[in-house]
Amino acid sequence: MRTIPISTKIRRPGPESDLLRQLSERVVGQPQALTQIVPYVQMHLAGLAPEGRPVGVFLLLGPTGTGKTRTVEVLAQALHGSEKHMLKVDCGEFQMEHEVAKLIGAPPGYLGHRETQPMLSQQKLNGVTSDQCSLSLVLFDEIEKAASSMTRLLLGVLDKAVLRLGDNATVSFERTIIFLTSNLGAEAMRKQLRPDFGFETMVAGKRDSAKRLEGIGMNAVKRKFSPEFVNRIDAVITYQPLGAKALAIIVDQQIEALQQHIVNRLMDRAFEIDVNSGARAFLLRKGTSEEYGARELKRTILRHLTQPLAAMVSSGAIIPGDMVHAVASADGERLTLAVEV
Ligand SMILES: Nc1ncnc2c1ncn2[C@@H]1O[C@H](COP(=O)(O)OP(=O)(O)OP(=O)(O)O)[C@@H](O)[C@H]1O
Ligand SMILES: [Mg+2]
Repeated sequence: MRTIPISTKIRRPGPESDLLRQLSERVVGQPQALTQIVPYVQMHLAGLAPEGRPVGVFLLLGPTGTGKTRTVEVLAQALHGSEKHMLKVDCGEFQMEHEVAKLIGAPPGYLGHRETQPMLSQQKLNGVTSDQCSLSLVLFDEIEKAASSMTRLLLGVLDKAVLRLGDNATVSFERTIIFLTSNLGAEAMRKQLRPDFGFETMVAGKRDSAKRLEGIGMNAVKRKFSPEFVNRIDAVITYQPLGAKALAIIVDQQIEALQQHIVNRLMDRAFEIDVNSGARAFLLRKGTSEEYGARELKRTILRHLTQPLAAMVSSGAIIPGDMVHAVASADGERLTLAVEV
C-alpha cells in the first residue's frame, strides 16, 4: 500500500485554507458557518463529491443581518467571480400550491405550457456555473414560506439530486450546493437576545448564548419540517449575533465599499472620502443593534454618510476630485462633512 507522507499535506496549504481565509475576510464573525461549508466545496473542487446527491445541503438560521445571504454571495464571488452567480428562489413567491408550477413548468397540453419556463431547469443551473468552476449555488430563501408541495419537490432534490419537470425532463442537482435560509426560531432568538423589561436578563457567556440560539433554531426546525426533510440536510447552521469587534470590521468594509461605489458610479466626477476614527466610532454607536445586526449599520451609514454626501453633490458643494472629511460633531450626535480646501 502506498502511503502519503503527512508532511506533504502540511507543507502545502491547500486551496481549502485559501478559500476559508478569503470567505472569512468578507463574512465577518461567523467562523462556525464557514468551516462547515468549505469542506463540501472542497469535495467538489477535488472531484470527490459523492454521486447521486447534491454536493451539500445547508440550512442557515439565525437573527436578521448576520450574514446568511452574504455567505452565499461571497461564495459565488469566490468561485465564479460575481456575487450574482447563483440561482435564488424566493420561497415567499411559492406559498400557494399552484405557484409551484413556476418552478418546474406546466405539463405539456396545459394552458401556458410554452410560456412557462421552469425556474429550475438544467439550463438555469448550468447558467450559474463559470469557466473556473462547475458548481452551481442554489439559494432557497425563507424556506418556511414555501407551499408543502414545494417542500415535497425539494425532498426529492435533496435525496437523489433529481428534479422532474412538468414536461418530464429531469434536472440533475449533483453539481449543486443548496442553501436553505429560514427565519424559523428568529422571534424566539430575538427574545433571547433582548429579553423584555421585567424578565430576568440572563448574562450568558458567548458560548452559552450560541448554544441556546442553536437549540431554539433546531427545535423550530423539527416542529416545522418532517424528520425525512431534516435528515437530508448536511448541516443546520445558526448564525450568531455580531459582536462589537465584528461590527467594527464591517463598518470599515462598508466605508470602503462606499468609496468604491462613488468611483464606479461617478467615474471622472468621483471624489474621495476620509472617515476618521471618531466618525467610525459614531457610526458604530448609532448602528449597533443586536436585533437587526449589520442591517442597522448599513442604514446608519446610508443616513449619516451616503445621503448627506449625495445632497452635497447635487447642490454643487462637492465637485469632482474633492476630498471630503467626515468627523463626529462636538456633541457626538451628528457627522460633520467638510470639503478640504
Ligand atoms: N457577518 C457579516 N460580515 C460582513 N457583512 C455582513 C455580515 N452580516 C451582514 N453583513 C452586511 O449586512 C448585509 C445584510 O446581511 P445578510 O443579507 O447576509 O443578512 P441575513 O443574515 O441574510 O438576514 P435576513 O435573515 O434578514 O435575510 C449584507 O449585505 C452585508 O453588507
Ligand atoms: Mg437573507
